[in-house]
Amino acid sequence: MIAKPKVWVARPLFPDVLARLAEYVDVQAEAVERKHSAAELREKLAHVDGALIGLSDRIDAAVLEGNQRLKVVANLGVGYNNLDLDAMSKAGVLACNTPDVLTETVADYAWALMLAAARRMGAAERWLRAGHWATSRMRFDDWLGVDVHGRTLGILGMGRIGRAIARRAAGFDMRVIYHNRSRLPEAVERESGATLVGKPELLRQADHLLLVLPFTVANRHAIGAEELAQMKPSAVLVNIARGGIVDDAALAAALRDGKLAAAGLDVFEGEPVVHPDLLALDNVVLSPHIASASEDTRRSMARVAAENVIAALGCGEAAGKPPTPLNPAVMSHWATRKA
Ligand code: DGY
Repeated sequence: MIAKPKVWVARPLFPDVLARLAEYVDVQAEAVERKHSAAELREKLAHVDGALIGLSDRIDAAVLEGNQRLKVVANLGVGYNNLDLDAMSKAGVLACNTPDVLTETVADYAWALMLAAARRMGAAERWLRAGHWATSRMRFDDWLGVDVHGRTLGILGMGRIGRAIARRAAGFDMRVIYHNRSRLPEAVERESGATLVGKPELLRQADHLLLVLPFTVANRHAIGAEELAQMKPSAVLVNIARGGIVDDAALAAALRDGKLAAAGLDVFEGEPVVHPDLLALDNVVLSPHIASASEDTRRSMARVAAENVIAALGCGEAAGKPPTPLNPAVMSHWATRKA
């Protein structure tokens, strides 16, 4: 009897998804959530054919060095800045992510953060829970926020999620401007109701600026002190993309000094640690990287990751055709390089 391929699941996952994997592979699933060191990843991945990993697990050349067995790593997320794709391709390892299934949920969350930050919902709730409403007179001009409807929405990075965010703006009568590496096709621009502008215009004109670009070396601190200084003091900044795209220290200074009205942040430089200056501010809404965390979407993401691994290992209905590969060319070399 041929042994089933072995798959390591690096995070606790939905039981039905583990059961689906177990139809085809020998599953070794972690029961406890934690970040794995490079040495742990190296050791774990040396003895398996596939893995499902979280965004805090970094796969690079050092982790893969000497690994003759691993064929596929499925990232539980759409962003894959934790994967060194070149190193994975050189090592013959297929990388997969979970695009599409989370687009609308993340776009919803971007709006939630924008509205919460603009209307000061976090600080107002903390004030109410602390009992201040009952014990002090709330003034007519207390808790004044920034309007969202009728304002200019700026989007930096106009991929699938950026476009889903833009589409929602029609219901708020907003003007939508975007900046992207390349211009969207005209039909897509029309559907998104968005107009391309240069980055300086985006910074100057946006009343609400949403960051939706992937993290790359070039995008590190795409929003730093210089960029923040170009924004309106009444503007709201929202980052649902990746920590490191914003210089968090510079952002905290701008929020503290009244150079920016508010911010909504789901991602942070060095997360899960959050810059202490941000924690000290009331005009920023903070959440722990949960933009894709709706019941349905997290289940769909887990299922997509599992189907990628199953198919990449030659099993299931889609054997040999993983649904969302990032470096599919590696599969053509497997016959010669991998057992
Ligand atoms: C992703 O999938 O990249 C998101 O950051 C998850 O929320």
